[in-house]
Amino acid sequence: MKIVSVGGGPAGLYFAILMKKADSAHEITVLERNRADDTFGFGVVFSDATLDNFREADPESHAAITQAFAHWDDIDIHYQGQGLTSTGHGFSGMSRQTLLDILQRRAAALGVTLRFSTEVAEPAAWAGADLVVAADGVNSSVRLRYAAHFQPAIDWRRNRFVWLGTTCPFPAFTFIFKESEHGLWRVHAYRYDARDSTFIVETTEATWRRAGLDEASEDETAAFVEVLFARELDGHPVLKNRSLWRAFPTVRNTRWHHGNMVLLGDAAHTAHFSIGSGTKLAMEDAIALAGALGEHREVTRALAAYEAERRPQVEATQRAAQTSLEWFEQAERYHGRLEPAQFAFSLLTRSLRVTHENLRARDAKLVATVDRWFADKASQQSGRPVAAAPPPPPMFTPLRLRELVLANRVVVSPMCQYSAEDGTPNDWHLVHLGSRAVGGAGLVMTEMTDVTREGRISPGCTGMYKPEHVGAWKRVVDFVHGASGAAIGIQLAHAGRKGSTRRLWEGIDEPLPDGNWPLIAASPLPYFPHSQVPREMNRADMDDVRGAFARAASMAAQADFDLLELHFAHGYLLASFISPLTNRRKDAYGGALMNRLRFPLEVFDAVRAVWPAEKPISVRLSATDWKAGGLEPAEAVQTARELKAHGCDIIDVSAGNTVPDQEPEYGRLFQTPFSDRIRLEAGIPTMTVGAVASYSDVNSILAAGRADLCVLARAHLYDPYWTRHAAFEQGVDLPWPDQYVSVKTFTPRDR
Ligand SMILES: Cc1cc2nc3c(=O)[nH]c(=O)nc-3n(C[C@H](O)[C@H](O)[C@H](O)COP(=O)(O)OP(=O)(O)OC[C@H]3O[C@@H](n4cnc5c(N)ncnc54)[C@H](O)[C@@H]3O)c2cc1C
Ligand SMILES: Cc1cc2nc3c(=O)[nH]c(=O)nc-3n(C[C@H](O)[C@H](O)[C@H](O)COP(=O)(O)O)c2cc1C
Repeated sequence: MKIVSVGGGPAGLYFAILMKKADSAHEITVLERNRADDTFGFGVVFSDATLDNFREADPESHAAITQAFAHWDDIDIHYQGQGLTSTGHGFSGMSRQTLLDILQRRAAALGVTLRFSTEVAEPAAWAGADLVVAADGVNSSVRLRYAAHFQPAIDWRRNRFVWLGTTCPFPAFTFIFKESEHGLWRVHAYRYDARDSTFIVETTEATWRRAGLDEASEDETAAFVEVLFARELDGHPVLKNRSLWRAFPTVRNTRWHHGNMVLLGDAAHTAHFSIGSGTKLAMEDAIALAGALGEHREVTRALAAYEAERRPQVEATQRAAQTSLEWFEQAERYHGRLEPAQFAFSLLTRSLRVTHENLRARDAKLVATVDRWFADKASQQSGRPVAAAPPPPPMFTPLRLRELVLANRVVVSPMCQYSAEDGTPNDWHLVHLGSRAVGGAGLVMTEMTDVTREGRISPGCTGMYKPEHVGAWKRVVDFVHGASGAAIGIQLAHAGRKGSTRRLWEGIDEPLPDGNWPLIAASPLPYFPHSQVPREMNRADMDDVRGAFARAASMAAQADFDLLELHFAHGYLLASFISPLTNRRKDAYGGALMNRLRFPLEVFDAVRAVWPAEKPISVRLSATDWKAGGLEPAEAVQTARELKAHGCDIIDVSAGNTVPDQEPEYGRLFQTPFSDRIRLEAGIPTMTVGAVASYSDVNSILAAGRADLCVLARAHLYDPYWTRHAAFEQGVDLPWPDQYVSVKTFTPRDR
């Protein structure tokens, strides 16, 4: 086969090597515009796992690579003048130039034709080739020429960075966070040979401009960096090599192949340098493409197989890189707000891929330090002692909200059961909530419980509007208090325009076939086009609804609930005021955020006034509508600030469900970043909810300060004893009810 690679970076060279190895009859030419010894940048980094892949693909180049690299296990973090070290990370760094030398030599020895100083400008360069490999990097000209087919999307990130080197041999992978009069600077530094280190400096565009670096030459940049980091560089000079300030482009392509042409490495995709995966991805692409061509003789089939194999792996890495780059973009949020141990934990788990458990396997000492710090804080905050040694995992530490002290950080999320008659909870609710309380969660929340009959979602929803509701709820509350260590909270709501609909299993949000009741909302907009049109609320309606919430709150206090949550989320009545998508009012209750918050805050105040002062109130918010023109996280932060000022104790951070045509981004812990932001920017405790599935997730979220409580919904439907099982697996002794003490002599086997 005749193969032309445009570009002789790691992707093009490694692919040429693997193909020539597979069949020496292949005629392979690599066209590279640079000279053989020209390179940009300094070092590249590989994880131990990546190196194993290289050994399998080509033992010869693997041997040369492993002889040339500097290996380290530690990550050093410089934060607020303190140094923190985490170990067990297993990475290798090497000079990019050395890597290219090794690959060039190996390719030449195998008989690949390498043409340096050859800029490819026209398709004539690959005329007659059976396969054209576009390995021409992040600014790929082949991709640009065939953009209509590849459909690239380039997301230019907002931070600025410059890739420098230094003769300072950093002993570990080093992150430096340093403030100057211009703002906060981040450094990613690692040694790549016996002497030298890569030194990438990153900051926000505003800080970069304030420091005048937007107009600085390479020499001026180097001089600035040498002065700013004189202490960390220990007097060593900064090295430059086409070290220009840039923004990072995340490259994605709808298609990676077209006819006999294929994108490889950075031409196809990029992943932010903070997870150090660019060269790894490029070389793993080469392995996959060579493998696919070995398997499928027909080129287009092989290219399709390559893309099918690689795309999901690359996209998973890109997702991790995205959360990592966002962490660095938002480092100002964490810097100064988090204490050193928590800052380090947040940094090390930033991609949400490394959990408390993974990190413990790498560095048990660091995790023990973080757990100790967390437990001591929790003990101080709650006034409750925690085990001295070993410290409990974060999920089994107490939290105080006013006079309520929760025994642990797991919450059973509100979940409608659609099983009540005219709002009255019954045996189903007793067993449902009672078994979850016995299951060990610190706090069990009732389902959305409506403050009027017309405020129900469905005829099966629970309510707090009739005198007999108090006794029916008190039966549940008394059971929870008597039989478990859990606290119990009630979620009060009004369904607004999403009312008068069927039970979940009969058609979620679908109007009732008959027996409908009239709806009210902020604006007369139906949920679905075929839904009932609600009446726009007038001032008298507002007074009624506010009164109903206050009455329900008094009834909840009589029923002895420990916590009250107001439902300001998911498009229900109060949420319909907050979201600009559902509030089109022209009066004092519509328009700017403060106007949209006016009525919900009135309701909050009325409830706070009657709810006992020693008991906490939480508010569930949708932090985004996931729809253009809808509520954005910055407004959710502002809303949380207002609520805090009005006496709210904790925000239960959810998202979406405002409009049916939302465009949510689901995934593991998909709502946790909103909680993290509200918690730190509004300075109020938060609960996070949404696809929290493992106890390690819970511990990670808490230890990193992304939330104060973790709320699990579906996990608790699957396993009412979720917290007990988590305790067992972590060696925590959670007291069983007397009736169940025999379980202590039982050993579960299948977990
Ligand atoms: C600041 C920074 C730090 C990074 N740190 C790391 C790290 O620590 N670890 C890591 O693994 N990755 C890192 N990367 C990413 C890494 O450099 C790339 O992901 C990797 O080099 C991709 O390999 P590639 O072969 O696809 O592209 P490249 O290495 O960019 O190679 C493309 C080649 O094509 C040539 N070329 C382009 N156009 C033409 C043309 N028209 N004609 C002929 N030749 C052409 C170029 O000269 C170049 O040699 C970093 C990137 C940046 C920006
Ligand atoms: C059956 C069911 C009923 C729900 N009812 C409510 C509710 O009454 N109030 C509420 O705020 N959220 C409700 N939700 C949303 C959950 O509380 C939670 O936010 C969501 O399921 C995401 O969490 P998870 O990924 O842990 O399931 C419900 C979810 C489910 C699955």
